[in-house]
Amino acid sequence: MSLHRRQMIQLGTLGLSSLFAGKVFSAGTKRLATGHKPIVISTWDAGINANKGAWNVLRNGGRALDAVEQGVMVTENEQSCCVGLGANPDRDGFVTLDASIMDENGNCGSVAFLERIKHPISVARRVMEKTPHVMLAGVGAQQFAVEQGFTLEDGKLSDDAKKAYEEWLKKSEYKPSANIENSKSTSFAPLRLPNGGFNHDTIGMVALDAHGNVSGSCTTSGMAFKVRGRVGDSPIIGAGLFVDNEVGAATATGLGEEVIKVCGTHLVVEYMAQGMHPEEACKKAVEKIIRRHKGGDMKDVQVGFIAINKQGEYGGYGIVKGFNYAVCYADDHNELIYAKYALP
Ligand code: GLY
Repeated sequence: MSLHRRQMIQLGTLGLSSLFAGKVFSAGTKRLATGHKPIVISTWDAGINANKGAWNVLRNGGRALDAVEQGVMVTENEQSCCVGLGANPDRDGFVTLDASIMDENGNCGSVAFLERIKHPISVARRVMEKTPHVMLAGVGAQQFAVEQGFTLEDGKLSDDAKKAYEEWLKKSEYKPSANIENSKSTSFAPLRLPNGGFNHDTIGMVALDAHGNVSGSCTTSGMAFKVRGRVGDSPIIGAGLFVDNEVGAATATGLGEEVIKVCGTHLVVEYMAQGMHPEEACKKAVEKIIRRHKGGDMKDVQVGFIAINKQGEYGGYGIVKGFNYAVCYADDHNELIYAKYALP
């Protein structure tokens, strides 16, 4: 009897509760996998709270898709610089939101340039489930949300965002560019913390449920003080988020233009399909971004990837120091991990 089959029988007799905290080994890959099932991981410090929302679903045997929606809704509700309606606005003073979601069947939905809706991730899910399309943008996305029963909020900036915007207006510096020549632009300033680290700019989450299915979600207000209409990687399937239920899932954070140019998360998942561990796959994708710049100085550019595979192994990697992600696979295990990075 194969190891895999033996384990399935053991897991069946041990019951669902043992799946929550237990390690799962798979003979299906060349490496001996030491993962966890269920498991949820998400980007940045905000991932700790987001994971709690997801874990409430996963610990009860719920679907990964529900977990990744519930999880990032926690962050959309929090007052944060970079996710949800409390976030920093674009250069014209409007908060515009991008989000995407993908399930275990390869279905996906996303919204871009969405205004005055509190939970873009749930609108993205409705796009996936209620329309024959993948992406809705701008006023059309907003109209669809309202038709679906979402409340149109007043569009006022949060106190923190108003303060940050008024401060930014004093100089109105804006040189966003993925070009390395301009990488010291203020476009990343809002992400820089006084200690030299980076604040989170996106909540990206991927989860494996007790049934062995993988899903992912990603939601953001994008780059602070961006050109009106700018859309980043988060709502673009294969850039900010990708799920392949035969392999695993990945999500991205950081400078979206860089992620889009290499189809970042699709790349990570393809590397995992070739047998790489999630961390190695994330590292390879980061290196691809760096290579594209042919030795240019990228020390002020951050991109981070996180990924899980079907065995419940996980990993993350950033271009520079400071990227972290939260990993939860038991009631008492929700841990913040500082990712390895490519540039010292
Ligand atoms: N990664 C989020 C953005 O660039 O919009």
